[in-house]
Amino acid sequence: MSNLQNRCFCLFGNPVSHSLSPVIHKIFSKQINIKYFYSTILTPKKSLSFFLKKFFSQENNVGANVTLPFKKSVIKYVDFLSDRAKISESINTLKKIDKKFLVGDNTDGIGILYDLKRLNFLKKNFNILVIGAGGASYGIIPYLMYNMNKVYVYNRTHYKSYLLVKKFSNVGEIFCLKKNELKNYNFNLIINATSSGIYGQIPDISSSIISENVYCYDLYFKKIGYTPFLQWCKKHGSLHVQDGIGMLVSQAAYSCLLWNKKLPNIENSLKSLKNSIKI
Ligand code: ATR
Repeated sequence: MSNLQNRCFCLFGNPVSHSLSPVIHKIFSKQINIKYFYSTILTPKKSLSFFLKKFFSQENNVGANVTLPFKKSVIKYVDFLSDRAKISESINTLKKIDKKFLVGDNTDGIGILYDLKRLNFLKKNFNILVIGAGGASYGIIPYLMYNMNKVYVYNRTHYKSYLLVKKFSNVGEIFCLKKNELKNYNFNLIINATSSGIYGQIPDISSSIISENVYCYDLYFKKIGYTPFLQWCKKHGSLHVQDGIGMLVSQAAYSCLLWNKKLPNIENSLKSLKNSIKI
């Protein structure tokens, strides 16, 4: 038996009860033929450090994912950052090395890029609107800026989008917009990177930015039906709406690669996941 067998991984987040990551990693484990375990840990907002220490003190616990609201705050607890985590200043994947050091990485960017290409939602010279300026936005934005795309960011709290845009302004063309400015632009792709969907809400923006040819993508997804944001986009005429289930599988696959040195087949895994949750 290889020493890769029987290691444990988990997801730190709050909330985590909705997470499909345990199911996804079960599919991966079977597919790459390496047995590993994956669980969720509901982490109280002020106790991340304690929960990290406790989990990683066990020898077999060698990696984790980090989700809302810890993607940025976890940075202070790691020993090393990958280039991807450095550029996005946020972490979604942890790996224990040499039995004691934690490396922080971020696979959200590569995950969304893979998914947008898979869906044919991303073309050269696109004007992309990203709604939200939290950890998820930091993870994906540097990857959206390639291929001469222009990225516009709107966030409910304007100062946070200002800081985000400032950080990435030397990477490519990126602009910060206020709510009343949105209607002045023609966006090709609108990405909801807020956590509003988890609470059954949608970002408060004008529907005038939606039309039939605008691609609408929600990082969030629901097991059944459309997310509130995608329902709203459809209602206002978009013919191209997709939720983040493909990105979820893609970013998880790249975490799996980091931990197991094997990249699962993303398309097949997505099919298996949809079958297992009956989407
Ligand atoms: P994540 O790691 O998922 O990005 P986060 O860092 O907590 O989570 O960020 C959540 C993002 O969703 C923020 O941009 C937040 O806006 P604020 O900065 O104004 O708080 C946004 N958000 C959450 N609920 C929202 C809602 N109902 N409408 C609009 N934006 C919302």
